[in-house]
Amino acid sequence: MKIFVDTAEIDEIKEANSWGILDGVTTNPSLIKKAVKKRENINMEDYIKEICKAVDGPVSLEVIGSNRDEMVAQAELLYDKFNPVNNNVVVKVPINTSSPETTAGKYEGLKALKDLSSKGIPTNTTLIMKPAQALLAAKAGTQYVSPFAGRIDDFIRNNVGLTRGEDYPKSAYHDGDWIRHASYLKLKPRYENLEGDDLAGIYFDEEVNKVKESISDEGIYTGAAVVSSINRIFSNYELDTAVLAASLRNSRQVREVAEAGADVSTIPFHVLEEMIDHYKTEQGVINFSEDVVPEYEGIFR
Ligand code: E4P
Repeated sequence: MKIFVDTAEIDEIKEANSWGILDGVTTNPSLIKKAVKKRENINMEDYIKEICKAVDGPVSLEVIGSNRDEMVAQAELLYDKFNPVNNNVVVKVPINTSSPETTAGKYEGLKALKDLSSKGIPTNTTLIMKPAQALLAAKAGTQYVSPFAGRIDDFIRNNVGLTRGEDYPKSAYHDGDWIRHASYLKLKPRYENLEGDDLAGIYFDEEVNKVKESISDEGIYTGAAVVSSINRIFSNYELDTAVLAASLRNSRQVREVAEAGADVSTIPFHVLEEMIDHYKTEQGVINFSEDVVPEYEGIFR
């Protein structure tokens, strides 16, 4: 799996690159906003050029328009201006730019993707929330689809009253083990004084159904499940679009999308840092260094 860093912070990009594991960078308008806030009088063009130089792998830069012509023109501008720096620009295009106010942008992303594909400008289709969107983007010729695994999990947690970052029994969702969910989510049992997660039938069906309905999105219950479903679809039809798992919140989610077969994960810098940590590793280092005998130390002198 390739690893991209999901940031517009130049220091974070350089630091991750110095570890020897970095394959690319993804930015978006919110990440650029964060970087701008930290600096006074930023020259955006120079800053983006610096980002492109900092890594020898794809750098995703996002368009901000909402119709086909705007997005195509912006993509060409981004590509012409920044690709010559290090030959690594990929243009991020939202799959669908409609909003609660207007459906005008519904197919504009797709059309822009198709145009950019014929022009040979590589694209990363962003804001993918379900596999069907990824299939359309791949058909339109995109190089990457970015399913927002973290936001999908956030949404599910929100709907069942769990807090962000709190784990929930994802394998049970895949297995359709609703009794385990019901128990985990502390739904009202049919009988008092009954505990355990293997007592089928103790939960009110309507309670279980309520949860099922509130968190299922066309039969998908987790961010990682979106990634594996897209993978299956792409391999069924030999589509060579890469699956780029995005919006990752923690090291556990990185593992989940890696297990689901993501081609790439784009990871915030603090999550990259979290990936290396384990208290048992720290303890192991202490133990090994305490056990070094002079005879062994001698060979290093
Ligand atoms: C990356 O390509 C995405 O824009 C990013 O991962 C979104 O992450 P967020 O859900 O934390 O905003």
